[in-house]
Amino acid sequence: MESTPSTESTPGPAELESHWNKVVGRRGFLMGVGTAGATALAGGALGTAAAFADSGRLSRGDAAILRFLAAAELLETDLWEQYEELGGVNGGNPAYIAALENLDGDMPQYISDNTDDERSHAAFLNAYLRSKGEEPVNLDEFRTLPSSKATGAKQIGRLTNLLKLNVDTSWYTRYRSTQNPDFGATFPQAVNIKAEPAIPLNDSDTPPGMSQPVPPTNAKQRRMQAIANTAGFHFAMIEQGGSSLYTTMSLKASSLEVLRIVVSIGGTEVNHFAVWHDKAGNAVAQPLAGVKDPETGVTFPDLNSPPFGGERFQTNLIMPEPADFISKALPQCSVIRPSLDKNAGAMAAATFLTSTGLFAGQSQKFFRALHALARAADSAHRGMH
Ligand SMILES: [Fe+2]
Ligand SMILES: [Fe+2]
Repeated sequence: MESTPSTESTPGPAELESHWNKVVGRRGFLMGVGTAGATALAGGALGTAAAFADSGRLSRGDAAILRFLAAAELLETDLWEQYEELGGVNGGNPAYIAALENLDGDMPQYISDNTDDERSHAAFLNAYLRSKGEEPVNLDEFRTLPSSKATGAKQIGRLTNLLKLNVDTSWYTRYRSTQNPDFGATFPQAVNIKAEPAIPLNDSDTPPGMSQPVPPTNAKQRRMQAIANTAGFHFAMIEQGGSSLYTTMSLKASSLEVLRIVVSIGGTEVNHFAVWHDKAGNAVAQPLAGVKDPETGVTFPDLNSPPFGGERFQTNLIMPEPADFISKALPQCSVIRPSLDKNAGAMAAATFLTSTGLFAGQSQKFFRALHALARAADSAHRGMH
């Protein structure tokens, strides 16, 4: 960028500086980047892609990407906090914790750490938006859904509903397959989890003080174990979705800094997914396999034994199988998938989560707001403003 101050650009550097000081209160910013940066800002106002990369201002598309991701992280945080209150390292429901620990003794720690990560994602994205003079995302008015009545749950309004979920478990067979949904492939459910709670509902249904032997021996223990197993699959479902969403959004980012944010947060979503993928498998392997919820009939079979087992179901095949990618003429590649807008963009993510019952009970206004954020993010295109 030429450092000669422009005389014909509108607004000029001085006006921009005053505007910026008003909006973000960061006088030091323009002083720091000097004349070249100020000229870039003026160029940005004229709409050149390169200018945005230097200027510190976000393009409309980059702001829309980060706003949708901030919304997604607020929703993620809300659901993870519900899990943490009941089953985290300081969780308040001992029987739920015991049932989760039947999947892995570290489950409460992982739940708390994952919750911390989501809080940090939401807070960072909103703070970054603010630092760029953009509106942060606030979903507080939609915290209207009921809490669980079980011991341990705070009685506060929620954004998300974990009380009756259709957990999509096709991620399990998708990542064991050599096919890719971006080429139109579809994948069977590993476990059919329909209308099942992922957190205990109340203390009469699942008493908080009961033991959780492996295998469970009475109906209430089976119910609680099925709820914990459902959570185990839901954790991985959420985080594989985040892995694909961030991958897809990264392809739309224009500024290198926004790209850095998207791929760096996206990497931790993948990390989460990998851990939960491993843990979920313990619900469908010996000695825990075979649990059936006496209320809903949801059953967690042994996926290592016929009619399951093999490449598509074996529980320790948790590394992503090389799959079709970009072109079937190229060698198969172990990748995050899907990563096309139609399968993993913002609207696809919103529609998918809605289909699972995660937002059951939310208002039309909530869905309008979510969809508006999603459409804006999907409209972002790399380098075009
Ligand atoms: Fe996150
Ligand atoms: Fe996440």
